[in-house]
Amino acid sequence: MSRILVTGGTGYIGSHTVVCLLEQGYDVVIADNLSNSDLRVLDGIEAITGIRPPFEKTDCLDCEALGRIFDRYSDIEAVIHFAASKAVGESVEKPLLYYRNNIGSLINVIEQMNNHGVKHLVFSSSCTVYGQPDSRHLPVSEAAPRRQATSPYGNTKQINEDIITDVAHSKADFRAVILRYFNPIGAHPSALIGELPNGVPNNLLPFVTQTAIGIRKELKVFGNDYNTPDGSCIRDYIYVMDLARAHVKAVEYMLQGKADEQVSIFNLGTGRGLSVLEIVKKFISVTGANLPYVIAPRREGDIEQVWADPAKANKVLGWKADTPIEDVLTSAWRWEQHLKKIREKKA
Ligand code: UFG
Repeated sequence: MSRILVTGGTGYIGSHTVVCLLEQGYDVVIADNLSNSDLRVLDGIEAITGIRPPFEKTDCLDCEALGRIFDRYSDIEAVIHFAASKAVGESVEKPLLYYRNNIGSLINVIEQMNNHGVKHLVFSSSCTVYGQPDSRHLPVSEAAPRRQATSPYGNTKQINEDIITDVAHSKADFRAVILRYFNPIGAHPSALIGELPNGVPNNLLPFVTQTAIGIRKELKVFGNDYNTPDGSCIRDYIYVMDLARAHVKAVEYMLQGKADEQVSIFNLGTGRGLSVLEIVKKFISVTGANLPYVIAPRREGDIEQVWADPAKANKVLGWKADTPIEDVLTSAWRWEQHLKKIREKKA
């Protein structure tokens, strides 16, 4: 079976993808600098799959170290490149960190792929490249235009996509799949792996679960005066395990020689938009948890509404995000409860 190098493989989406790859019989090697993840994630992966994949503590900015991984694992056939900095707000404060990390890492990964004859790349992009689409472009398909990025983070995703396209033009046998994620949420149903936010979470779901478990006093719903049915923002929340499965499909698509285009782009979402207030109400009704929330002013830079048209991924990759939102919210809650037990054990 082929080996897949997963950069950022101990991170949130990376770890769930590693589980799916192992379950499908792929060999994996993880490269991660552990800047935003924990080595204990490997225990979770092993408990779920029965396999402890090899782990290389490596920063993708270290091109030579990356090269040594390819030397050591000469059976690598594809790379899934997750390793990147991902906090929008932090990127505004530390733009150079984001440009250096996110762009330098991709360049090094592709350079070492080229040096070692590895031709298949899956890249983590984001629906942030669409900005706020015109209403005629909702739901957003891959044909919608990209918009000027509103943060250095968003800009690094656009530049990364352009780098991949330029490399493809220069190398006829290079293949890449760019996956534009909508809003990934939830955790593995076992609650053995999940999202580990650093400090105060920016994203909605970790803030919801941390409030419900008592770490945060109340959730602030950022704005109820948007031009949406209930006034709060709308997003396409996709279950992290559905998202993880899409990466396996993307790898298969290339390795089985089905990728006619050198660079294929897919939107990964459910096709359904949910508002912040809908998420809050569903979370309360599904989990029975107490979730204090208040309406707060709009958060600067937020997009009013965006959700995916995932038809291309449904058809071409044979993939669909079909886990019911109730199960997804339950998984996020179980993960938060699991983290609480770990904290209590430590105390
Ligand atoms: N929200 C709240 N309260 C919170 C946190 C979030 O009301 O405490 C709201 C936001 O205002 C937004 C929605 O919940 O309306 C979702 O917010 P997230 O921060 O979870 O997600 P975003 O859609 O803002 O950002 C995500 C990714 C980014 C990516 C962006 C692309 O986190 O990496 O989508 O649009 F760039």
